[in-house]
Amino acid sequence: MDIKDMPIGFFDSGVGGISVLKEAVKLMPYENFLYYGDSINAPYGTKSVEEVKKLTFRAVEFLMSKGVKAVVIACNTATSAAIEELRNSFIDIPVVGIEPALKPAVKLKRKGKIIIMATPLTLLETKFSSLMEEYNKEADIVPLPCAGLAELVESGITEGEIVNKYLRKVYENIECNDVAAVVLGCTHYPFISGELSKILSKDTPIIDGSFGTAKQIRRQLEKKSLIRQETVKGNIEILNSLQNQKIIDLSYKLLTL
Ligand code: DGL
Repeated sequence: MDIKDMPIGFFDSGVGGISVLKEAVKLMPYENFLYYGDSINAPYGTKSVEEVKKLTFRAVEFLMSKGVKAVVIACNTATSAAIEELRNSFIDIPVVGIEPALKPAVKLKRKGKIIIMATPLTLLETKFSSLMEEYNKEADIVPLPCAGLAELVESGITEGEIVNKYLRKVYENIECNDVAAVVLGCTHYPFISGELSKILSKDTPIIDGSFGTAKQIRRQLEKKSLIRQETVKGNIEILNSLQNQKIIDLSYKLLTL
């Protein structure tokens, strides 16, 4: 098989990375995609760095065994825990990660606080501290750990009373009129952005890194002359460590949202 026809491998702790896959499919419709969610081990965001690193390596090895031309770690938590070591270990193919899209939020130069919603592990990692250091002179940044939110999305709950109640609780000490923007630093969260916009002040920007990551994948493929030379739509295959139809159906449903 021509290497260009091999799929781009995507990985997340569960169904969250579908939010990144969605942008990548829009941007590169002729590519083949293979998505692997590790829902049996989700959530990653409340595990130790070592555990997340181990699970991430295992998942990337699985994708490699299926034959992928690039790997996208469509999980902020796994990226913070393992991206450097992954790049050092898988040197033959592009390995792209995702991090909270703080830069575009700062660039908006809106008055007020920038809230970063992410898993506890992402916010504890040194990768996030460096990101904070880069921007905290320019903006008032408030990290908001959201343990439990990815689990709601994993169980297919993306809107309604349960999500609303959860969000009200984590935002109870935040003055929503004083929020410049919200950054979604977990790939599960774009699926709850409808419910989130209901509790924020009208027109508060909600920013996520999925489009930026999709562009980064394309840049990497271009650089290595790995773009597929076809003009028919590629194939999208979704696999999950849970190996049940419900999670696969949920993944395809989220892809169309
Ligand atoms: N989707 C993952 C992220 O972007 C985390 C969800 C989890 O805790 O497993 O951080």
